Amino acid sequence: MQKRILAYGRLSEAQLAQLDRDFEVQTFPGLESADDPAFLAALPKAHGLVGSGLPITLELLDSAPNLEAIATISVGYDGMPVDELTRRGILLCNTPDVLTETTADTGFALILAASRRVVELADFVRRGDWQASIGEAQFGSDVHGKTLGMIGFGRIGAAVARRGALGFGMRVLYSNASPKPALEQELGAERRTHDSLLAEADIICVTVPLTAETEHLIGAHEFGLMKPSAIFVNIARGRVVREADLIAALEKGQVRAAGLDVFEQEPLSPESPLPHMPSVVALPHAGSATYETRDAMAQRAVDNISRALQGQRPISLVNEAAWRP
Ligand code: DGY
Repeated sequence: MQKRILAYGRLSEAQLAQLDRDFEVQTFPGLESADDPAFLAALPKAHGLVGSGLPITLELLDSAPNLEAIATISVGYDGMPVDELTRRGILLCNTPDVLTETTADTGFALILAASRRVVELADFVRRGDWQASIGEAQFGSDVHGKTLGMIGFGRIGAAVARRGALGFGMRVLYSNASPKPALEQELGAERRTHDSLLAEADIICVTVPLTAETEHLIGAHEFGLMKPSAIFVNIARGRVVREADLIAALEKGQVRAAGLDVFEQEPLSPESPLPHMPSVVALPHAGSATYETRDAMAQRAVDNISRALQGQRPISLVNEAAWRP
């Protein structure tokens, strides 16, 4: 009997054909909630799930007693009950590496856009307000030669820092749980305590994963330490930052501008003032959203689920403890 996969992510024809060769595949395009009656009916016989954005609840797991593996089409797995999956022997696979450079590109796009007021000035032109040479009221801040402070120095953080150090002649500071001697060597990066980095950096970019330790890592105290000219960028997870404190810091001029790809609530609430603030560049969680990278992420998830259900070690396994070779 072929194992069954429920696919609710965006997979290409070729990727679906790859799964079809070895498995029985049922697709649920655009599925956002497990309440879909067809999905609920399919869960009891499912061996694998592949997709992103679907909350994996205990109720869902109870309805899927044959589940062996979940391949999320994302590097982040902060919404996943990892311990519970491990307890049930369900493998959780994610998609690191293939999105690193694209997400770093987004980080740098936000650094440039927020520093040089790209969106605000483009809107100024679009509205027809460009009637005379621009003056100080429209000036931005330099990026090249500035001090870039990376909060988190994993794969994506290092890729952002590489762009800063090698492309823009920036000095790189980082705060991270462990030292990164190879990156210090490569980029001349210097490790700092969290607080000294916040006080010293001109541009602060957050790339830490969301965990119990990093939730609300940046709040009023941290914004208070930053330079009034600081540019703040978050490409990690919205809940790493106390959003109300960020809004207050921008309103008080405690920081100059922010580039944000992630928010405490996504999609962003229509009541949020953030997208209306001229000093904010807001993106719709688009860090990895390119044709090439989303395709590569889907391919990684397809390879992960195929290997997991065929008894081979998935390429990117989150919960090692659940792996029984
Ligand atoms: C990820 O892969 O975790 C990115 O944030 C896109 O969801």
